[in-house]
Amino acid sequence: MFTKKMINDIDLEGKRVLLRADYNVPLDNGKITDDYRIKQSLNTVKALLDKNVKLVICSHLGRPEGKPNPEFSLAPVAERLSQLLGQDVQFAKDCIGDETKKMVDRLQPRQILLLENLRFHPEEEQNDADFASKLALYGDVFVQDGFGVVHRAHASTEAITHHLPSVAGLLLEKEVDVITRVIDTPDRPLMAIVGGAKISDKIDVLNKFIDIADFIAIGGAMANTFLAAEGIDIAKSKFEPNDVPIAKDILAKAREKSQQERFIFYIPQDGVVANKLDKNASTRIVDWDAHMIAEVENYPKQPPESSRVIGEDEMILDIGPFSGAFIAGGIQLANTVVWNGTMGVTETPSLQGPVGPFARGTELVIDAIMGDYGHQTYSLVGGGDTVGYVEQRGLIGAFDHVSTGGGASLELMAGRKLPGVEALQDK
Ligand code: 3PG
Ligand code: MG
Repeated sequence: MFTKKMINDIDLEGKRVLLRADYNVPLDNGKITDDYRIKQSLNTVKALLDKNVKLVICSHLGRPEGKPNPEFSLAPVAERLSQLLGQDVQFAKDCIGDETKKMVDRLQPRQILLLENLRFHPEEEQNDADFASKLALYGDVFVQDGFGVVHRAHASTEAITHHLPSVAGLLLEKEVDVITRVIDTPDRPLMAIVGGAKISDKIDVLNKFIDIADFIAIGGAMANTFLAAEGIDIAKSKFEPNDVPIAKDILAKAREKSQQERFIFYIPQDGVVANKLDKNASTRIVDWDAHMIAEVENYPKQPPESSRVIGEDEMILDIGPFSGAFIAGGIQLANTVVWNGTMGVTETPSLQGPVGPFARGTELVIDAIMGDYGHQTYSLVGGGDTVGYVEQRGLIGAFDHVSTGGGASLELMAGRKLPGVEALQDK
């Protein structure tokens, strides 16, 4: 399984440790809205403090594009980390420079210094050797625990490992182990539920799932691109016109597999539509497959065409109840569910209660995975927006593994090598 050296495989007692975490957390006006990544880093932080290390932590936050920008400061993270640990966390206003070096030199065993955003310097994303050597001045050993960022070859994930003995933290090991096991040896049937915005971000993982999964269900804005590829008029719905050919290829590959073996590739048959993305918008359900309603012979009226056609000013903002029920049914038959990406626009708040008007499809998926319909499946959840929603609903504990990685978990699932893991010392 995990073949890299760990913090327990090398002598760290009393040493200076440079720890790379992924504290890229969502902020709203300087307030952290989801601290899951910080909480998940605590095991490694505590294990290191138990070894009496002088701990220097570095991270990026957002995409400030190589320039200092207070909007992307890690200062709120220092505060939250300090609250969670119940101890002081010092904060350095720049990740390099004389002032920071002095703060590092003054650190005592068991003290923590968090450095300001690495991406305030363009050299971080350029995987710059000089910049890495400056960071390397802060530690005797480098510990990589930022699972969410190890798919990037950056100065703090790759170049740094050429300057310091480099080992893995506990979160990194757990993430790689769990995700690799689920993908390589899943308890079948294996169902993959993939949502979110863009197919282009997920081509590799979709192809991988066509190879290994028994059931794939698509939701989110990416479903709109598949619907467009199938010739359904999606009106004003958000989609990626350039991805339509990719969607067609994926559908063709899925069709081929479904003709050879038991396999389902499901795109939504109905959706919740509205003419604006607003909590006050009036919504309705459109059933573009229209197989249910239209076949009820005794219904006194013919259903109007609008019940199966999206109006020219309307857009799909969530999967509909037929689709939700079908996906929930699939979850009932699965022994492993891998879920990445919400089914609709979960960010739109509700007028009343915790569930927004376009979050009901996602809620159905959550209910089914949690076992509300009687069957309990193993569940692996990944991806920033999905985890943010689950965290906000207070339901993290209901899943077997909730990954701190978005892109990193997708790349690992797709079978790609992660540069930030490869660079670490072997056991
Ligand atoms: C993430 O949230 O995806 C990671 O922190 C990596 O950030 P990035 O996608 O901006 O490189
Ligand atoms: Mg990302």
